[in-house]
Amino acid sequence: MANFNLNINGQQHQVEADADTPILWVLRDHLNLVGTKYGCGISQCGACTIHIDGVAARSCSLPVESVAGKSITTIEGLSPDGKHPLQEAWRTHDVPQCGYCQAGQIMSAAALLQENSSPSDAEIEAHMRGNLCRCGTYNRIKAAIKTAAK
Ligand code: FES
Ligand code: FES
Repeated sequence: MANFNLNINGQQHQVEADADTPILWVLRDHLNLVGTKYGCGISQCGACTIHIDGVAARSCSLPVESVAGKSITTIEGLSPDGKHPLQEAWRTHDVPQCGYCQAGQIMSAAALLQENSSPSDAEIEAHMRGNLCRCGTYNRIKAAIKTAAK
């Protein structure tokens, strides 16, 4: 076990954990930030997506030691009041069905819009390809991203 200083959603946290513990479990089990979900555990589904220094990353596969000192953003920190343009667009388009994948979807979409404020359909599809939705909400996700981009 070791101590790690983590900057999460603009706040400093110190946690004690094994160095190879995925940051997903530090978020969920140590800090009760349970908006980030566990799906596959092997970087294949996108349910656990967070931002590391503004870039989308799979928290299930990132050891806590690799993200110490970096800026970590989770769905809880995307907007202080839940009114990020993507969150508003998600409501407008009534995107979620079961909801399980949706935090990861929004975090991936937010990273896309940070680097490309007006993505084409093809760019949205390419960027979001790694975020799976068992409920098949893909068309509503794409519509919501386009609305948020406007
Ligand atoms: S739980 Fe991390 S990509 Fe599936
Ligand atoms: S809304 Fe159910 S898995 Fe995506």
